[in-house]
Amino acid sequence: MAKRRKVLSVVGTRPNLMKIAPIAAELKRRGDEFEHVLVHTGQHYDRELSEIFFKELALSDPDYSLGVGSGSHAQQTAAVMERLEPVLLEAEPDVVLVPGDVNSTLAAAIATSKLQIPLGHVEAGLRSFDRTLPEELNRVVADQLSQLLFTHSPEARDNLLAEGCPTEAIHDVGNTMIDSLLAMLERIEARGAPAERGLERGAYLVVTLHRHWVDGPFVAEVISELAALSAELPIVFPVHPRTRAALDTMGTDVDLDRLLLLEPLGYIEFMSLVAGSAGVLTDSGGIQEETTILGVPCFTLRPNTERPITVSMGTNVVLGLAPERIAEVPALLAAAAEKEVRVPPLWDGKASERIADVLAGYPLEGPAAAKTT
Ligand code: UD1
Repeated sequence: MAKRRKVLSVVGTRPNLMKIAPIAAELKRRGDEFEHVLVHTGQHYDRELSEIFFKELALSDPDYSLGVGSGSHAQQTAAVMERLEPVLLEAEPDVVLVPGDVNSTLAAAIATSKLQIPLGHVEAGLRSFDRTLPEELNRVVADQLSQLLFTHSPEARDNLLAEGCPTEAIHDVGNTMIDSLLAMLERIEARGAPAERGLERGAYLVVTLHRHWVDGPFVAEVISELAALSAELPIVFPVHPRTRAALDTMGTDVDLDRLLLLEPLGYIEFMSLVAGSAGVLTDSGGIQEETTILGVPCFTLRPNTERPITVSMGTNVVLGLAPERIAEVPALLAAAAEKEVRVPPLWDGKASERIADVLAGYPLEGPAAAKTT
């Protein structure tokens, strides 16, 4: 009988969990071919950013929890590398999977590669071409170090080829975050979160913001624009802890009846709010994709996007890092109703199956621990 392949996945933050959960489920389903080991770096540690997602996405508890917590980029990256290395030596995986573009992704990619363990990057090849964004640096390094590049949109393949990645390393598999969304859609639709919050379906805006620019004066400008818009359109804003800290220092002198500032929400409740909304204003990456599948207009408050397919085929409009454009949302919503939206290729709920197929065919190279010096 063929040896079971040991796949070790490293997650650290909220969006990593949606990207890895369906892969973990698929590897478990094919348990005669695969053994799966899950490592949580602890980059996100609040219950609302981590634990609740394990439960909702039916993800098993991590086999290893590294507990790195918050810190500067260098501190966080270094702590993950330092704590992951002995785990890799002990677990001896045949291949390591890293999803997305967060600091845990970068750190795990470096630690894995230094041990000469084959590395697979889930969501490879996305580029904003803006190296002032930490996520862009994380993507570029993870891709350069990976032997298996799992892409989810056609331009990702082009970006990787342009950076010299070998064609045979690139596998167009689709979008595992969308696997999670489609698998959970019935439960999301049954959740009824808008009514629970006193919101009328199709008549409110969802807002999320958490990128590094929330630390500066930007967030005060956004809140003032949202307060003005909320007179016309109720707004619900689940606030990431980083954004909450920024808001706490500035205070919020706004009408909180029509601008609901909530704690971070679980996956099902949040997606139910998004699915029932008129539109979403965000600086997230994943939400640009989820709104594309749900057909909900998305306004991206960022200088650029690494997910241009959500603009060309989906519902996304990039506003720039321009809070004053929030006033345009009602007009943008009216324009969005005219747009024809298509589902990007391979965003069909089967990306994890394709990843498992690639992993099953990947040649085994023997225990990594043999090559540690
Ligand atoms: C990280 C990712 C970002 C991703 C986001 C998803 C990097 C560089 N950034 O951003 O790309 O979109 O996750 O949510 O990896 N904090 C808490 N509790 C937590 C986690 C964080 O209070 O459980 C607070 C801390 O003050 C911390 C700050 O949030 O310093 C930033 O956390 P960090 O993990 O560095 O990045 P995120 O902003 O969450």
